[in-house]
Amino acid sequence: MPQVAEQAASTRSDFLPLQGVDYVEFYVGNARQAAHYYRTSLGLALTAYSGPETGVRERASYVLQKDKIRFVLSTPLRPDHPMAAHIHKHGDGVRDIAMEVENCEQAWRETTARGARSVRGPEEMRDENGVVRVASIAAYGDTIHTFVERKGYRGVFLPGYRATPADVLARPIGLKYIDHIVGNVGWGEMNKYVDFYRDVMGFSLYQHFDDKDISTEYSALMSKVMANGNGRIKFPINEPAEGRKKSQIEEYLEFYLGPGVQHIALGTGDIIATVSELQGRGMDFLRVPTSYYDALEARVGKIDEPVSELAKLGILVDRDDEGYMLQIFSKPVEDRPTLFYELIQRKGSRSFGKGNFKALFEAIEREQAARGNL
Ligand code: FE2
Repeated sequence: MPQVAEQAASTRSDFLPLQGVDYVEFYVGNARQAAHYYRTSLGLALTAYSGPETGVRERASYVLQKDKIRFVLSTPLRPDHPMAAHIHKHGDGVRDIAMEVENCEQAWRETTARGARSVRGPEEMRDENGVVRVASIAAYGDTIHTFVERKGYRGVFLPGYRATPADVLARPIGLKYIDHIVGNVGWGEMNKYVDFYRDVMGFSLYQHFDDKDISTEYSALMSKVMANGNGRIKFPINEPAEGRKKSQIEEYLEFYLGPGVQHIALGTGDIIATVSELQGRGMDFLRVPTSYYDALEARVGKIDEPVSELAKLGILVDRDDEGYMLQIFSKPVEDRPTLFYELIQRKGSRSFGKGNFKALFEAIEREQAARGNL
């Protein structure tokens, strides 16, 4: 292991053709300030806004983009808005992983017929730029998936949003796309959600890791990676496994109060430049011991990047049959130890850094211990 269990581009018919992640929407306590963070750290540009100034009375939303990455940060303006309950319970977090579809009605019909719980039936939104159709189904915890059909729309994002002036605050750092989005689920629940993505969404098992792959002296977890038919969307699902102490997944579940998005991996074409810039902007990353780099070339062989540079920044490397990949993990980006980011550069490898799991989880445990949560 890891095993590529099934080729993602399957020949059987895909009842839910998904073109990619359309947007990731976060519910946050203060969207204006969160947007400032994402603009100045990750360099995502503010492209659209919706709120009182655009005729929306109950919430404000900021759309941030770079290349294929689109985040929406939303905040309620009153305590009785349903968004407020989500934030009260979970803290800031991901509510919606939306996917672009050709036909929204069909996506909703196919998934609900296979057992998905509908959160919002197909709806049409229109303005002078055309029409968008959306519908949503429940995923793990309070997380949902919205199907977005936007082929008949020319506007900046969705009806109700207004384009914002060119963002002079956001300086790009080379981010290109969302590589994968990881969900943490409860004890014994991984296979339930693996079945959900397989049976309801038509995904297939891409790779899997058991507690022997992902364990340290103290804690363990299990993970299965689900991918859609065209392989553009990858959702690893983690569950905690028995260990001598509390696993990082348990810590997450305790502070998020249930399943939710653990990390989003953002792809870059030059991880050294991206991470140098992020560290200069104050983003905190997990660190492995320097001995990791002493053993690096013996483990992964020749790589293009200078090891001294990777060591200075704390970037990790792993290799499989197809090539190698470079990755690094931020510390949680909010006070609850919940959501964090991964930066990843792929050089042939399509896997997830199994060779780094042990060093990485030991680094996470040091952080957990510092928070009194190990
Ligand atoms: Fe990851």
